[in-house]
Amino acid sequence: MLLLFPVGWRVGLCVCAGDSQGTCGDPGTPSQGSREESNFRIRSKVQFSCSEGYELIGSAERMCFPNGTWSGTQPFCKSVQCGNPGTPSNGRVSRLDGTTYSHSVTYSCMDGYLLTGSTTRQCLANATWSGTAPNCTMINCGDPGVPANGMRYGEDFAIGQNITFLCAPGYSMEADSSAVRTCTSNGTWSGIMASCQAVTCAAPSAISNGVLEGTDFEWGTSVSYSCSPGYELSFPAILTCVGNGTWNGMVPQCLPKFCGDPGVPAYGSREGLSFIYQSEVSFSCSAPYIPVGSTTRLCQADGSWSGFQPRCIEPTRTTCENPGTPRYGSLNRTYGFKVRRERPSLKIIL
Ligand SMILES: *[C@@H]1O[C@H](CO)[C@@H](O)[C@H](O)[C@H]1NC(C)=O
Ligand SMILES: *[C@@H]1O[C@H](CO)[C@@H](O)[C@H](O)[C@H]1NC(C)=O
Ligand SMILES: *[C@@H]1O[C@H](CO)[C@@H](O)[C@H](O)[C@H]1NC(C)=O
Ligand SMILES: *[C@@H]1O[C@H](CO)[C@@H](O)[C@H](O)[C@H]1NC(C)=O
Ligand SMILES: *[C@@H]1O[C@H](CO)[C@@H](O)[C@H](O)[C@H]1NC(C)=O
Ligand SMILES: *[C@@H]1O[C@H](CO)[C@@H](O)[C@H](O)[C@H]1NC(C)=O
Ligand SMILES: *[C@@H]1O[C@H](CO)[C@@H](O)[C@H](O)[C@H]1NC(C)=O
Repeated sequence: MLLLFPVGWRVGLCVCAGDSQGTCGDPGTPSQGSREESNFRIRSKVQFSCSEGYELIGSAERMCFPNGTWSGTQPFCKSVQCGNPGTPSNGRVSRLDGTTYSHSVTYSCMDGYLLTGSTTRQCLANATWSGTAPNCTMINCGDPGVPANGMRYGEDFAIGQNITFLCAPGYSMEADSSAVRTCTSNGTWSGIMASCQAVTCAAPSAISNGVLEGTDFEWGTSVSYSCSPGYELSFPAILTCVGNGTWNGMVPQCLPKFCGDPGVPAYGSREGLSFIYQSEVSFSCSAPYIPVGSTTRLCQADGSWSGFQPRCIEPTRTTCENPGTPRYGSLNRTYGFKVRRERPSLKIIL
């Protein structure tokens, strides 16, 4: 009894990791890792593993030796290292909280440059950075195109540049279109693509006693007016559809034709002072003169007076005065210069 006690005491003192009952001490669990164990008895094994994103340094498996110690070395878990994520040219790292597992890096580009690729990349468990390496490319909005029936001024599509649009003659820009577009900092053109619409004029005004000649009111076309019989244009008007759809030229009027003053026969008088289309004048002779010719004349559609201008002659008179002989001509006096009452005319037979 006295002999045994010191032995057990001695064993307990010397084997710190195990005990006389044949076990090894608890090897512990690595931080960010886990352990699989059944027990710590002699010849039993324990396995170690690390959480995602950590790699195991040391022995993944340890065995309990009969002398009460563990084989190998105790492992620890080390965070994976993604390394330097790099910096794009014309860009910078705007935030970096570490280059090991689960840490991230955020990029930005210099003013005037547009970032393509991943703005933020994270260090993954397989020691690679997520996403794709970013590039900073000078902002260019690309060709904005040319509107149909229009044109573009400006060939520089880089940031801050302006492009001006115009419509071809005869076309006008739609109200919501942008005549000037600027390449914005996000690489898109400001405003709305210009669109050019064909210009047409509204139907020109109608006129009384006349009609419009022409049915095409498109830009560049011309129209004119014509008057009803007996009327004539106040001026030879041609109206052209121009600009944003306005008629260039003045609208004429149809004025009644003027037959001119028919005069008053000697020894006679006239009634009627209007000498325009559809006016009527009448003549009378002072006694004892009698009229020869038309006592009533009407201003006709062609601008001439109907009938023949009357003359007032003495009722006793039977001949007219010699009307004269034309140059290189001769006068046939077979009938003399007799007044023919039934026909109010003087026949000159050459
Ligand atoms: C325990 O046993 C192992 C294997 O037999 C040996 O390598 C190790 O050195 C021993 N340790 C001690 C403290 O005796
Ligand atoms: C960045 O530029 C490189 C080299 O020009 C190219 O290989 C890569 O695909 C680009 N990345 C992106 C996201 O555009
Ligand atoms: C790393 O892991 C990510 C996500 O699981 C995967 O997309 C990528 O292909 C892996 N990279 C390598 C080199 O295995
Ligand atoms: C583009 O137009 C804006 C406003 O009209 C003007 O402030 C700017 O200076 C112009 N940019 C260039 C490059 O002409
Ligand atoms: C670009 O920025 C403008 C304002 O500057 C905005 O109206 C437009 O929606 C943006 N476009 C894109 C594709 O982000
Ligand atoms: C057309 O209309 C626009 C805006 O309404 C104006 O600025 C322009 O001067 C007009 N052009 C003509 C030829 O009238
Ligand atoms: C004059 O006219 C009459 C009738 O028309 C005709 O018979 C006659 O021959 C003419 N005289 C001359 C000289 O031409």
